[in-house]
This record gives sequence, C-alpha cells and structure tokens, in this order.
Amino acid sequence: MPEIKLKNVTKKYGSLVAIDHLSLSIKNGEYMCVLGPTGAGKTTLLKLIAGVVRPTEGEIYSDGQSVNDLPPEERGTALMFQGFALFPHLTVLDNILFGPLSKGVRYKDAFKIGMDTLDMVKLGRRARSYPAELSGGMQQRVALARSLASGAKTLLLDEPLGALDARLRTELRRDIKTLVKDLDLTAVHITHDQEEAVSIADRIALLRDGKIEQVDTPIDFYRHPKTIFAAHFLGGANLLEGVVRRVTPEGSVIDLGREIDVMVSFKDLKEGKLVVVGVRLERTCLRRAAFRQNSLLGRVEAVRFLGEFIKYDVVLDRIESAASCKIPSKSPEKFGAGEKVYVHFNPDDCVVFPSPRLGLRKEIEVI
Ligand SMILES: Nc1ncnc2c1ncn2[C@@H]1O[C@H](COP(=O)(O)OP(=O)(O)OP(=O)(O)O)[C@@H](O)[C@H]1O
Ligand SMILES: [Mg+2]
Repeated sequence: MPEIKLKNVTKKYGSLVAIDHLSLSIKNGEYMCVLGPTGAGKTTLLKLIAGVVRPTEGEIYSDGQSVNDLPPEERGTALMFQGFALFPHLTVLDNILFGPLSKGVRYKDAFKIGMDTLDMVKLGRRARSYPAELSGGMQQRVALARSLASGAKTLLLDEPLGALDARLRTELRRDIKTLVKDLDLTAVHITHDQEEAVSIADRIALLRDGKIEQVDTPIDFYRHPKTIFAAHFLGGANLLEGVVRRVTPEGSVIDLGREIDVMVSFKDLKEGKLVVVGVRLERTCLRRAAFRQNSLLGRVEAVRFLGEFIKYDVVLDRIESAASCKIPSKSPEKFGAGEKVYVHFNPDDCVVFPSPRLGLRKEIEVI
C-alpha cells in the first residue's frame, strides 16, 4: 500500500506534451479515480507510475523513494488495461501462476499464492477453466487475481470495466474497491464513467491537457468545483455569464443582461467584473410562477426520464442561454415540453467563477 508521489512531472512525445509539470500525491491505501477528456494524459499518467514510460522531467516517488530509475517489474505496480489479455491457451490458474513462476517462485509456493488469490476473487472453483469458458466479468476477476498474485501493491487500472455491461460493471467495481481496501492496496483507476468515479473513489483527479484541473473527494467536487471546466465535466452545471453589478452585505447581484439579474451569496467579488455563475442541475428547479429573485423565464425544450430524475432542458427567454434541471422523478410536479416555466435557484447554491479568457464556450469545449 505505497504512497505514490509525482513531483513536477512532464512527459513529452516528441514535441507533444502529454503530461505537463504535474504534481500529485496518492495516499497509502487510497482509491484514486482519474477522469478527463480524451487525450488529457490519463493513460500516460498510469504508464509513468508503472514505469512503462519515463518522465522527460520531474520525479516519481513510491513511499518517499525515487523510482525514476526502477524498471516496471520492480515497482510493485500492476497495470491493467481494458483489453486485460489473458493467455487463451492457459487455464485460469496457469494464467495466474505465470507471474510468480517467471519470477522464480517455487511451484508449490506459486500454487498456494494462485489458489489464495483466486479464492479472493471468488473463482477458486474455476481454476481449471480456460478464459474463453468464463464470462467477461469472471475474466476481469482473473486478470485482477493475476495482478495480485504477481505481488503488486499498487493497482493501475485503465478503463478496466469499459467492455462490460452496466450491471456487471456496478458489481465488479464494488468488488475491486472492496478487494483494494481489504488487501490494503493503493489503486489508480481511470474511467470515463463519472458515476463510477463518484461511487468508488476516495478522491478524483480531473486531468486536462496534461495538467491536474482539480483533485478532491467526490463530494467536494460536487460542492466546490474549482473551475468552470471541473463543474461542467463532473456533474454538469448551468453556467450563466454576467457582470458583477453590486456587492451587498447579503451577497452580490450579477447582471445577466437584458435587465435580468441574479443574486449569489458570494461577496468576495469586484463590481464590474465579468463572471460566470454556476449552479448544479440538481440545485435548480422549475416553477410555474416567478419568485422574487433568481427566477429566469423560459420554455421547456426537452424532457428526459433518467430513472431517479427527470431532466428538463429549458431555453431561457431574452438571454442567450439554456438551463437544465434535474428533479426527482417522484416529485408530483411535472412539466411538459413547450411549457412556460421559471428556472429557479438559491443564491447559496451558486458558485461564481471569473469569466474565462477565451470565452465560456471555448472553456467547456470537450473534444
Ligand atoms: N506513444 C505515443 N507517442 C506519441 N504520442 C502519444 C503516445 N502516447 C500518447 N500520446 C499522446 O499523448 C496525449 C495523451 O495521451 P493519453 O493516451 O495519455 O490520453 P488519455 O487521457 O488516456 O486519452 P483517452 O481517454 O483517449 O484514452 C495524446 O495527445 C496522445 O496522442
Ligand atoms: Mg487512455
């Protein structure tokens, strides 16, 4: 269960900067999920920790010791890709024994390690099966057992559940998390599935252009996104551009233009400054009548049933913007497409960001 530290690490492929002066600490026994748009450098980050690629600059430490010069096999890490290839011609057990045996562990000892790890992933009874005879989820667990049997203390998982169906994903991610905690391992898990990250991560690292945008617990990401990009990428938010008109003891008035303003609780703002107000979709609601403040007139454009929530997309009147909200499906109040509504939110639920240099649209453009 080592602590991994990256200090000012840069990885260039020719002139392309894949990781850009990145510093990150992953604590002992921590389950860290890594999120970010495609090309952000997630896989490169894992490869750097695994030692498969070397940093162009900077240092990587494991428990305080620099591992820059250690080959991958001596780093105690196991890198698992989505295509976790098992040897198809070897049984489940032989797949697992491969690592220990090739390291010179005696067969008897390797066998014990193999059976123990198989029991851990609840596949002891399938030791003699071949990979093709197992389901996708079982194969995934064999791959995990194989990593564990090779003595890895840090699991590096690159979209390990990507190919599986939704139900199995949910089940397996819980299994992996439990295993990591029970065995006191450290895990770095790349996923593109936000819900997955939020439900299993101790902390989430959001990557963008080779840099860390934010590292935080899921709840802090939700409550205190540090940037517009973080708010937009993780969880989503309504984003409204405006100008700080007045700062009062109760909060600040943000002018959205066309004589529409909203109140935010933030007071640490400068009058005249261009800002973006962010409100989580779950903290936004719809009303049929206007409220005294923070009520934006609009028209429901789309209604989508999302299981626990109903998501309403609203085109706002007068200001060139749209807003969405997620209302619990069990709420008795329902709205129809085309209906005139007021989008409402609380000043306390607003986050205020400085207006991005290249404009809001550019800022949240995710390739
Ligand atoms: N071996 C390589 N040679 C050259 N460029 C590379 C190499 N590996 C990655 N890159 C580039 O480095 C950048 C980061 O790639 P990386 O694979 O780490 O992204 P990622 O965040 O894992 O993306 P995805 O979500 O698509 O898997 C990309 O621009 C990619 O094209
Ligand atoms: Mg990748």
